[in-house]
Amino acid sequence: MATRPVRVWDLPVRLTHWSFVVLVPAMWFTAENSHWGWHTRLGHVLLGLILFRILWGFLGTSTARFSSFVRGPRRILAYLRGGYAEDRQIGHNPLGALAVIALLGVMLAQIGMGLFAGDPYDGATGPLNPLVGVMTADTLTDWHEAFFYVVAGLIGVHILAIGFYAVLRMDDLVGPMITGKREAAADIDGIGAMKWGRAAVCAAIAAAAALWIWFGAPPLT
Ligand code: HEM
Ligand code: HEM
Repeated sequence: MATRPVRVWDLPVRLTHWSFVVLVPAMWFTAENSHWGWHTRLGHVLLGLILFRILWGFLGTSTARFSSFVRGPRRILAYLRGGYAEDRQIGHNPLGALAVIALLGVMLAQIGMGLFAGDPYDGATGPLNPLVGVMTADTLTDWHEAFFYVVAGLIGVHILAIGFYAVLRMDDLVGPMITGKREAAADIDGIGAMKWGRAAVCAAIAAAAALWIWFGAPPLT
């Protein structure tokens, strides 16, 4: 069947994705080498980007929206049994959607724990550390340290899955995540025009929230 290139991922989806690829290893590196100033600063950039991606999941272009790709168990099973016309749709498939939610979820959980982590009497602390007791902060710090293996494990599975599609199914998913385009059947439409105004609103809200947390989430009134 004749195919043509269509736009499948908008710029914010691609930019946030590749910034996660840079920032998550940077978070590990800064922690391992005790660069706590950078760990906290980059952690807030990551927080802002994740918050943006979540808002964009409600207001973004079609393939960025959670409603376009999050599917129930029946659709996931149908996909696994092969009863799913993959070439008839663009965006995340029902199984990939699970990975997207899991990856965003574990990053958010790791960041969330980091915000409360540390010991005020010894070394670095996250900005929300004073809001909890020392014992709670201590537990969250231990979890933050251990949970990194969950984050890293899931990323490993993610990269293996991308490799599986490339090698066994001859489906290059990485190229479209870079260029935004992929080949699709001639009668399949790509995503619509980029909504810059909405992107600006999402970016402003995400940046404001990350900044508010940076200052220790002071009362707003
Ligand atoms: C995906 C994001 C993150 C990753 C992968 C990550 C990773 C880590 C790791 C591996 C450690 C343990 C270092 C060690 O003691 O060996 C650590 C510690 C820590 N992280 Fe994060 N972190 C993330 C986000 C954050 C954020 C957003 C904050 C706060 C703004 C934060 C604050 C801290 C603090 C204060 C510690 C020190 C705990 C201590 O004193 O031992 N982290 N992080
Ligand atoms: C820190 C490491 C990584 C994290 C946290 C991560 C996270 C994510 C997330 C959240 C998505 C969903 C995109 C969205 O809808 O916003 C995604 C998709 C994707 N990622 Fe990653 N990723 C990482 C590393 C990589 C690497 C190294 C590659 C390339 C080898 C890669 C290739 C892809 C591709 C191709 C997709 C689109 C999959 C599809 O077509 O459904 N990722 N990733």
